[in-house]
Amino acid sequence: MPDQRSQRAARADASTTLSDFERSVKAGLTKTPKSLEPKYFYDEAGSALFDKITELPEYYLTAAETEILRDRSAEISDLVGPGAELAELGSGASIKTRLLLSALVEPATYIPIDISAEHMSAAAKDLQALHPDLAIHPVAADFMQPLRLPERSGNGHRVLFFPGSTIGNLQPADARQFLGRMHGEVGADMLIIGADLAKDRATLEAAYNDSAGVTAAFNLNLLARMNSELGGTFDLARFRHHAPYNEAAGRVEMHLVSTVDQTVTIGDLTVAFEAGETIHTENSYKFTIAGFHQLAGLGGWRPLNVWTDARERFSVHLMVPA
Ligand code: AVJ
Repeated sequence: MPDQRSQRAARADASTTLSDFERSVKAGLTKTPKSLEPKYFYDEAGSALFDKITELPEYYLTAAETEILRDRSAEISDLVGPGAELAELGSGASIKTRLLLSALVEPATYIPIDISAEHMSAAAKDLQALHPDLAIHPVAADFMQPLRLPERSGNGHRVLFFPGSTIGNLQPADARQFLGRMHGEVGADMLIIGADLAKDRATLEAAYNDSAGVTAAFNLNLLARMNSELGGTFDLARFRHHAPYNEAAGRVEMHLVSTVDQTVTIGDLTVAFEAGETIHTENSYKFTIAGFHQLAGLGGWRPLNVWTDARERFSVHLMVPA
């Protein structure tokens, strides 16, 4: 079993290798404005920094979503019913996964889907200890690429759990298409999805500009990663983290701002930066509940229920095919 798991992991890791990263970096840094894909944040160092972000006092998202799952997991479980297959877009390491799995009645299968096979197999071990009867089938994959999941088993719902407001990292058109894919490809007939809510600028900007500088380090890690994996010559001291709320676009943006005129090389690629020029590294869309319902509707999902935390900072939606 561990053998099968690591084989599957090794195969899937090959689909997100250096050459993909290299291609993506070249494409992103040769266009105007410059950008990088946020999925490349999550190497080992980046994943560790992200874990630290989720514990920051300013980064309310994780605490708020955890509160919802803690308070509402019994209601969620009633709607999901017994014998469910739970597929999660994420490694399964979070407390949120545990809250949900513990509340479900005799869940049949748990399928974590994550780009990091390592993270996943560590999490799977912990979960297996808590749920000895649960079949755990990790799938190491980039969920923005076509997915293949194990065959369905049993009569319970296949529930897709997509916490963290990661859906908010996609442009609305991509989010709609992505949600549409989850029917056929994943075979999900239920969706439990977290969506961060629009709120005052100060709270949003604090969440992405924490006083300990962890989010800045997370953002700058992309430069370190280009240096170590692609032979880049980025001087991290000549870039700064910038994360404004773009209210008109409904999103918090992350950028890396060049503080000086400079030229950087990455292998045979030469990239010139003017002082003040940015690399756009991430969007994090913020939703209203009505707006999220509309978006999900375009992806073929109908809301059954929605819960928020007591301070109405974050929403968790339970949806079914429309
Ligand atoms: C977990 C990917 C949704 O956008 O809030 C955290 C990533 N970026 N701080 C988010 C992130 C900056 C996070 N997601």
